[in-house]
Amino acid sequence: MWTDDLTVGIDEIDSQHKSLFLQLEKLLDACVAGGEREEVLAMLDFLDDYVVTHFATEEGLQREHCYPDFEKHRREHEGFLHRINLLKEEIATSAPSRDFVLRVNQALIDWLRSHILTVDKAASEFLLKKMGRNPI
Ligand SMILES: [Fe+2]
Repeated sequence: MWTDDLTVGIDEIDSQHKSLFLQLEKLLDACVAGGEREEVLAMLDFLDDYVVTHFATEEGLQREHCYPDFEKHRREHEGFLHRINLLKEEIATSAPSRDFVLRVNQALIDWLRSHILTVDKAASEFLLKKMGRNPI
């Protein structure tokens, strides 16, 4: 599901994004295959932890280089973590339904794609310039 157009040009961030999409694919596969609630919840927990680490990487770089839109970017990240937590709450009480798969697609995958294509790309362009590297 990760596609070349999502490249931001900072290797560490690109590889974390790829890993995020792989995890999301596995999560969807498990839901579609009728995975157990516990299994899906464990995957969401893992994803949640990974996303926290990933956002810390991005925000750390932005702080280090005094990115002017840091606060705005950080608030977007908080919104995503909130979405993961809502899905976790949902799956804590009921088995993954078809509707749940739809929400994973919309709330997580679509969000991530559009976040990367807009705000992550803008931040990376700024960071690459600050680091003396050519933006992609
Ligand atoms: Fe971001």
